[in-house]
Amino acid sequence: MNNRTKMNPNSVNLNSILKKQCLMKKVGIGLAGLGFMARVHSRALNGIPEAKIVAAWSKFPDEHNKFNEFSKKLGFEIETYYTDIKKMLENPRVDTVICAIPSRFVEPIAKEIIQAGKPALIECPPCDTPEKIDRIDKLAKERGVKLMPGHCYRFAPCFKKSKELVDKGEIGGPIFVHFREFVPAESLARQWAPGSWIWDKDRGGPIPTMTVFCMDMARWLLNSEPVSLYATIKWQDLPQLGILGYTVVNMIKFENEVTWVNEFSGSVVPSMGSPMTMEIVGEKGNAVVADGPEKVILYTEKKEEQQVWSFDITRPERWGHKPQDEYFIKSVILGREEPIVKLQDAKKALKMSLAILESSKTGKAVYFDQV
Ligand SMILES: NC(=O)c1ccc[n+]([C@@H]2O[C@H](COP(=O)([O-])OP(=O)(O)OC[C@H]3O[C@@H](n4cnc5c(N)ncnc54)[C@H](O)[C@@H]3O)[C@@H](O)[C@H]2O)c1
Repeated sequence: MNNRTKMNPNSVNLNSILKKQCLMKKVGIGLAGLGFMARVHSRALNGIPEAKIVAAWSKFPDEHNKFNEFSKKLGFEIETYYTDIKKMLENPRVDTVICAIPSRFVEPIAKEIIQAGKPALIECPPCDTPEKIDRIDKLAKERGVKLMPGHCYRFAPCFKKSKELVDKGEIGGPIFVHFREFVPAESLARQWAPGSWIWDKDRGGPIPTMTVFCMDMARWLLNSEPVSLYATIKWQDLPQLGILGYTVVNMIKFENEVTWVNEFSGSVVPSMGSPMTMEIVGEKGNAVVADGPEKVILYTEKKEEQQVWSFDITRPERWGHKPQDEYFIKSVILGREEPIVKLQDAKKALKMSLAILESSKTGKAVYFDQV
């Protein structure tokens, strides 16, 4: 009897699956930046079988050690850490890059990535000015390199469902949206230590980072462009935490005549409850409401016709990071599709976030045909 006939049929199956898995080429990822968002992406990528983080770059070697401790807890170790981005980009195992560094430092890094011909997902805002975004967009187009800005809200189950209901006409045309996102100051202080780049008030503090995802989502959800934006910001020094609190209220008028009101705060106590609600009121008086990231409700005229969708989701999925990274790996890298979110979308979202800063300083509305 030869070996083959001795084998249990189940083990043949198992062997061929294992062989297939070994043959399946995983997309090799290089992380650029090893801070908070690199960890969020690592959690997401760790659950995507087609992806493997093979390399990481940070200028600061102590971040390599800290990240190694973190990744070991997640169950993997990165093969090579670099302090020189060029060296990481020369590594043939790096097929693509996830860039998660503060927007004001991205332009030269993005240029290195493009010149190396590696497609990349770039965290948002991808640069701190619209002009810099245009420059990297132009270079990427010239070199035929795909860059996708990380606008994760478009992939979050609660916002995808809300858009689907609006697009299906369930509430007629939308007329008004109220969006509220209150993040406890304690969480932000844990996320970004006192002295971090994000607490630099002269550069807008946390406003661009903490508002830009909603700004992109608003354009996408309404299929419309903003006409004007008026905003107030209440800044608060929070010496007990060593950070800068903020509360923003802003009103945006869209071309399709929808009024969108945002309330963002990073000054609240943890017990304030749901971190996010979005109420989209339609012309029929009906409404689509995202009540936190786990639930969407369609309010109709008759209470008994009200519908609820619940999403049983874990951390990297709640705000869309995991489905976003999965889309990027499977469709953009393996499927060679053009990214559905473009740098020009990220530029428009950044302009809206910068308009919050400008309007709150001047006390006047910003008109987007003039910026
Ligand atoms: N998608 C989201 O939900 C989300 C949430 C938070 C932040 N962000 C965005 O992610 C990006 C990174 O934010 P983060 O929270 O990871 O920041 P972080 O401060 O936690 O980490 C930043 C990383 O950039 C590196 N860095 C800092 N200064 C640098 C410089 N001059 N040159 C090169 N590298 C430098 C740091 O060493 C660190 O590795 C920002 O654009 C931010 O707006 C996105």
